[in-house]
Amino acid sequence: MTASINEGKLSAQEQLYTKALEYERFEGHKPLALIHSFGCQQNVSDGEKLKGMLSAIGFAFTDKTEEAELIIYNTCAVRENAEDRVFGNLGQLKKLKEKKPELIIGICGCMAQQKHVAEKIKESYRYVDLVFGTFAYGDFYEMLSEIVFDHKRVFNQSDRYGDINEDLVQLRDDKIKAFVPIMYGCNNFCTYCIVPYVRGRERSRKPERVLEEVRGLVTQGYKEIMLLGQNVNSYSYGFTELLRAVNEIEGDFRVHFMSSHPKDASRELIDTILECDKICTHLHLPVQAGSDRILKAMNRRYTVDKYMEIIDYARSKAPDFSFTTDIIVGFPGESYEEFCMTKDVIKKVKYDNIYSFVYSRRSGTPAAKLPDDISDKQKGLWLRELILEQREVTSEWLGRFVGRTLRVLPTGEGRKGEGWLTGKSDEDIIVEFQGDKSLVGNFVSVRAVKAMNWALEGIREEDIPQG
Ligand code: 5AD
Ligand code: SF4
Repeated sequence: MTASINEGKLSAQEQLYTKALEYERFEGHKPLALIHSFGCQQNVSDGEKLKGMLSAIGFAFTDKTEEAELIIYNTCAVRENAEDRVFGNLGQLKKLKEKKPELIIGICGCMAQQKHVAEKIKESYRYVDLVFGTFAYGDFYEMLSEIVFDHKRVFNQSDRYGDINEDLVQLRDDKIKAFVPIMYGCNNFCTYCIVPYVRGRERSRKPERVLEEVRGLVTQGYKEIMLLGQNVNSYSYGFTELLRAVNEIEGDFRVHFMSSHPKDASRELIDTILECDKICTHLHLPVQAGSDRILKAMNRRYTVDKYMEIIDYARSKAPDFSFTTDIIVGFPGESYEEFCMTKDVIKKVKYDNIYSFVYSRRSGTPAAKLPDDISDKQKGLWLRELILEQREVTSEWLGRFVGRTLRVLPTGEGRKGEGWLTGKSDEDIIVEFQGDKSLVGNFVSVRAVKAMNWALEGIREEDIPQG
């Protein structure tokens, strides 16, 4: 429906830009948009693309709902509580829309890709103007122009994902760390997970495009590049080759990546991490569960022994190698004994951090049909038990760094309050130390002096008394 200039008509993008300029002339400032991204880094990265598109048509940004002309929630569908939060937020906008009818309200992302969610919003949240899924970004200007100029409500849950659109430029919020997607989608169909249904099959970006983007970010002064994909090990053009090529880029920066599926994590991956000085010596390797029966029911396609092989290989080469993981507690049919096997894995691996979740039933996934007779309350107690176990393991395991100097990238004020900075080391460990805010965004050498159950406390090398 986009008309070309040759036909004497303005494109949707140009019309929207003209409208924004008019607004600015009249109001004395650009129209403001609020874009709130929930969920994973991939989603944050999509939100930054949306901001890039809005900036190109003359928008500026705010985080105050009452100031905005346009509010878009970029949503996550991985767990039910993330969805509930979005519905809660949408509910709160109803009054605002009554006061300010020209306000445009939209939701996009993984939740908005699901047809039943789109239906619910169509029927029960009539003041929402725009609902578009993860494949509709390329149609954003057309959708917005239908709302602005034709006063329509727009629903786009198209499931044709086609080629990766390289024209969408991210407007990044962070000036220190940058997310760089290297692939989209997932082919694994873990039985609990909604991602393959809302983000489609795997598509990889060409290495040239990734490298070009990383070079540009390093030139702009970014210090940490996070390569993103649901399963980076199945990057079509060879993930370890990509890592080596990124490592060759000149500059003062480090590289992280996530996530890696254990079924595809190879010895070669570990070797590459250890051989490349800019790649952080850390691997996020989601184990999900500690019993082979549950792993099979989850369709994870590895056993605990297979998982441990990669851990043991890394630790045989680098005894301090840092691992973090994701864990799901209370998958349908999981018994207490099986849950305890997950705690055993935590003890065996010694993670530096875990991200643990109570299983959340996702409609449309195979696991949603399984009988599940453990209550959420009980699962919540298991989760607490797991977290306590992890804290004990982690505070002891972090002790390996006490007395040693780590390279830390401070990113802001520390949890310990005024005068403290927080950042992560190259091993992905949170380190808190005293220092001036001017150090934020620069690599700092910090001597670890104390291990806590969530972080290390340290002293900047320069602040250590000599002698
Ligand atoms: N319930 C709970 N946790 C889930 N995850 C994915 N799907 C679900 C679900 N249905 C978790 C997994 C994954 C992380 C991103 O979210 O642990 O690795
Ligand atoms: Fe979901 Fe499994 Fe794909 Fe991760 S690998 S996104 S858990 S289906």
